Amino acid sequence: MLTYCNNLSVKDYCDLRTSVGWPFISDDQAQSGLDNSDFIISCVDEGKTVGCARIFWDKGYIAYLADVIVNPEYQGQGIGKKMVQECIKYIDNQLKEGWRIKIVIVASKGKEAFYEKLGFKARPNDNDGPGMDMWRE
Ligand SMILES: CC(C)(COP(=O)(O)OP(=O)(O)OC[C@H]1O[C@@H](n2cnc3c(N)ncnc32)[C@H](O)[C@@H]1OP(=O)(O)O)[C@@H](O)C(=O)NCCC(=O)NCCS
Repeated sequence: MLTYCNNLSVKDYCDLRTSVGWPFISDDQAQSGLDNSDFIISCVDEGKTVGCARIFWDKGYIAYLADVIVNPEYQGQGIGKKMVQECIKYIDNQLKEGWRIKIVIVASKGKEAFYEKLGFKARPNDNDGPGMDMWRE
């Protein structure tokens, strides 16, 4: 049976990253990222962590949704959708009178439609340019 909880170990996080072919990050960097997330959700099947998502928020108007991962053996069952919906709900619960908060996601190639179904708007569009990023090493 699938259950959802609000914690995630470094090992389970790194194993999930590996399961979808994402690059290695060191345990201490992974731990720091998890420690400083505002909201984490993980999906567990009989003790095995099979999905995760996390969000961090500047306590103002910007929040970033990161590391939405479902183990390939469990994809297509609504787990990703449920976890993103819970992250959105977390942000909704932070709203105060007159506030708006923008949730940003940098979608992996081919995953845009997954996020569009959840209410995200793809870029570039008539108003916004493409998202941009850079790595520092
Ligand atoms: C993207 C990912 C998180 C989706 O998780 P999932 O649990 O398989 O997705 P769900 O079963 O919750 O799908 C929810 C809906 O999105 C649709 N969907 C899922 N992946 C999709 C895709 N790549 N393209 C279009 N639609 C997609 C489903 O068909 C479903 O539609 P429905 O609600 O109309 O039935 C998962 O494929 C994954 O972990 N991929 C590898 C890591 C990754 O790239 N993460 C995204 C980083 S930005």
